Amino acid sequence: MWTVSVARRLLRFNPRLSNGRAATAAPGDFTCNMVGSKVLFSSCARPLRSEERVMVHFISCNGEKITTSGATGDSLLDVVVNQKLDIPGFGACEGTLACSTCHVILEQGVYDQLGHIVDEELDMLDLAYGLTDTSRLGCQVCLSKSLDGLTLQVPEGVNDMRHADDTGSTSSP
Ligand code: FES
Repeated sequence: MWTVSVARRLLRFNPRLSNGRAATAAPGDFTCNMVGSKVLFSSCARPLRSEERVMVHFISCNGEKITTSGATGDSLLDVVVNQKLDIPGFGACEGTLACSTCHVILEQGVYDQLGHIVDEELDMLDLAYGLTDTSRLGCQVCLSKSLDGLTLQVPEGVNDMRHADDTGSTSSP
């Protein structure tokens, strides 16, 4: 059954505007991977995973700076999980583009460098708590050497769209 969903998503490459940001995804920019029984979608041009380390600075919602690193090819969600960072609620759907809890705010230069965003990520970003012009989902941003030293802000709250009630309201601080 998942193949129908995958095919439908892979066929949705129409560039559009959302929140004033251009979505410039093109065929080939969107990949899916089976991990166990889950299908993980990624809009990032995931570099081949290697042991080359990329330094990442997380600024938590209380202003604490957490410096860590991930391997090239890892997503920011991978970094949080692998390094066991204490960021409450982060990555609740495990990278299946269903929650927006991995919302991070990037510096403008980093945001511009990343480029393409697919419709599915934009749809979920629209529901993220504290959305900004340089917001991305951490499960969709993959590390490359050019991102070494990147600093990102973790928003003050999260919206987990999997737990939204019928009125559309969600939990936040
Ligand atoms: Fe749920 Fe990224 S982890 S959308």
